Amino acid sequence: MFRSPATATFAALVLCAVVAPYAGRAQPPAPLSPIGLQGDAKRGAVLAQTCAGCHGIPGSFNANPVYHVPKLGGQNADYIEVALQGYRRGTRGHETMQAQAASLSDQDIADIAAYFAGWPGEAETGRLRASAAEIEAGRTKAATCVACHGPEGVAAAPQWPNLAGQHESYLTAALAQYKDGSRVDLVMNPLMLPLDETSIEELAAFFAAQPHLHDTKQ
Ligand code: HEC
Ligand code: HEC
Repeated sequence: MFRSPATATFAALVLCAVVAPYAGRAQPPAPLSPIGLQGDAKRGAVLAQTCAGCHGIPGSFNANPVYHVPKLGGQNADYIEVALQGYRRGTRGHETMQAQAASLSDQDIADIAAYFAGWPGEAETGRLRASAAEIEAGRTKAATCVACHGPEGVAAAPQWPNLAGQHESYLTAALAQYKDGSRVDLVMNPLMLPLDETSIEELAAFFAAQPHLHDTKQ
């Protein structure tokens, strides 16, 4: 099958690198797609009442580890659908969000996504503590990210997340989850493996400092 032992070894190494974050699973789970149903934002508003305790309070925190609850205002509807399906099927590891998503139907997810994505608001930066130097260091390192997430963190396709204006502590936590495999994604897992903690923090700082996503205060 392989032309030389070297090719076979290389193929095996690539396979290990791809499969490693999914230890214990037979094979990596298929990537998720947007739901493809028309979302009804009015129905979404009713379903989203249970979300307000966290996503409706600007600056609220996840307890352990401590990081800001992510902003949803101005996020892409298609990406919100992908995210909620990830919690529902368990490839995103956060117990509260898994419990929130477990009982949602595809139509519920489409309606909730339409509701949050359509939330009116001004472009804002995320909450951040980084210095100007760290933000600039992040800008340089973000060269490998912009093809998908956009030069200023506004995604090139709607099924990808907007990072601009998201909270720094949440972005850092999300990147660490891709690195340790507790959040599964075929694209992001291998990208994070070579990055150290400092690079992750600088990348998070850069995207948080670009104004875009806004709060969904109720
Ligand atoms: C107890 C607080 C809490 C409640 C209630 C809650 N969330 Fe969340 N939500 C969070 C936290 C914390 C995260 C980040 C979790 C992680 O690290 O993956 C999150 C993540 C998300 C994300 C992913 C955002 C991103 O950028 O990837 C979406 C979408 C979301 N929540 C939607 C909802 C919806 C819809 C509801 C209601 C049905 C809801 N949440 C209820 C705390 C909450
Ligand atoms: C080939 C396209 C691609 C590239 C390049 C890419 N990403 Fe991503 N990124 C994605 C996709 C797709 C997702 C959503 C994956 C999921 O559902 O968890 C994502 C998710 C993320 C998230 C989670 C956002 C949230 O709201 O939870 C962060 C943070 C992120 N990427 C940062 C980066 C950084 C930093 C780089 C560069 C080092 C990068 N990405 C490069 C496609 C890409």
